Amino acid sequence: MSSLVIVGAQWGDEGKGKITDYMASKADVVVRYQGGNNAGHTVEVGNEKYKLNLIPSGIIHDNTLCIIGNGVVLDPEAFLNEIRMLQERGISTANLKISDRTHLIFPYHKKIDELTEIQRGSNDIGTTKKGIGPTYMDKTERIGIRICDLMKKDIFAEKLKANIEVKNKYLKDFFGFEGYSYDEILNTYLNYAEQIRPYVADASVLVYEAVKADKKVLFEGAQGTLLDLDFGTYPYVTSSHPTSGGVCSGVGIGPSMIGKVVGVVKAYTTRVGKGPFPTELNDEIGEHIRQKGFEFGTVTGRPRRCGWFDSVIVRYAVRINGLTGIALTKLDTLADMPIVKLCVGYKLNGEIIKDFPASIADLALCEPIYEEFPGWEDISGITEYNKLPTNVLRYIERIEELCGAKVSLVSVGPRRDQTIVIEEY
Ligand code: GDP
Ligand code: IMO
Ligand code: MG
Repeated sequence: MSSLVIVGAQWGDEGKGKITDYMASKADVVVRYQGGNNAGHTVEVGNEKYKLNLIPSGIIHDNTLCIIGNGVVLDPEAFLNEIRMLQERGISTANLKISDRTHLIFPYHKKIDELTEIQRGSNDIGTTKKGIGPTYMDKTERIGIRICDLMKKDIFAEKLKANIEVKNKYLKDFFGFEGYSYDEILNTYLNYAEQIRPYVADASVLVYEAVKADKKVLFEGAQGTLLDLDFGTYPYVTSSHPTSGGVCSGVGIGPSMIGKVVGVVKAYTTRVGKGPFPTELNDEIGEHIRQKGFEFGTVTGRPRRCGWFDSVIVRYAVRINGLTGIALTKLDTLADMPIVKLCVGYKLNGEIIKDFPASIADLALCEPIYEEFPGWEDISGITEYNKLPTNVLRYIERIEELCGAKVSLVSVGPRRDQTIVIEEY
């Protein structure tokens, strides 16, 4: 089985875009299975930098079939803008397909996201305000509108009418917001429909046939394990399943069609948005990492919170995702630090715990237990594993030991040529 899932093992922004693009050179198909344009995946090729929100990171490769699965929520305006951006830069989107079962984001979803966050006050989640949560709510409420509905004018018009009535009432009664014009949204979306139509397909069939034909299929996760609706730091999570379990329902294939699962892991920890973060550094070391690693959100531009590597989190991600390997990124960012710390466990109410707790109230009380490692010099030009400084190798080996998975790839910079493969996938 040559299919491979690429998941974020922490709170997102681990470098999934870079790793997916790197691996896509040997892949036939790349599939996004959840999330929406809350994701920001950066791919650097030579001097070019691409920021992808919805379109799989395999798109930069000419012959790779790229698929947006049913588990994704799609903002057509954002989608068409991304297509335009790529085409203007000479990247073909001829090999792009979207599932006809994908749910659509509407302007009222974005407005509800925004107004709900304001209403939460100091308890806000820190969402990207892209309408992700409200769209998944409609999906589970069974009133969502899908691409296959958009493709049929009468069905779409009817569903939109029913939705707008409910949403406008909710926006007015709850937030005093005037609401949206049915005609305006109808016309705008019918216009989008014709632009989207050439991309629409039964994505499950495409992926099934590709796996059956022994083609190499990559499933590109967005967000990360700790943002998973069930296994993340609830309620400070996103509304989908970024974990490998999300692939089956987000694409429409069975677990027997999944081969390996690689977790993308940053050599330290970052998080955007709110919620507890045991190894967070609210000091000059955290600021140094933020500046050196350019830790600012791809989607919202917010500064990312930075902290030391947390092996409790990554060991949890190894278990929840069934990781068969780790792609360790941004080791170069930690260069030139006199000491690098690694969290090996938490202390909670005087007891040492090694498994990630369910309750964020407990997590907020967890004190990290650290081991210290001597630092290393610049490694951004190293291309062979055994040429890495001994101190880096010790750090990597300890991560493997603590987390229970092998590091199969090391990334020492954002570009493709700054990648060291230890074990081929
Ligand atoms: P994603 O959401 O997981 O795809 O990650 P983002 O693209 O949001 O953030 C990762 C950032 O780190 C991007 O700017 C990447 O270009 C960059 N990056 C990825 N791997 C490395 C690495 O090994 N070293 C450095 N310095 N930057 C990296
Ligand atoms: P990539 O794929 C980091 C965070 C938001 C917020 C929470 C909920 O680039 O790793 P949402 O808008 O999804 O309802 O916000 O999830 N979040 C991310 N953080 N990387 C991402 O994606 C994220 N997508 C959402 O900041 O805390
Ligand atoms: Mg990102």
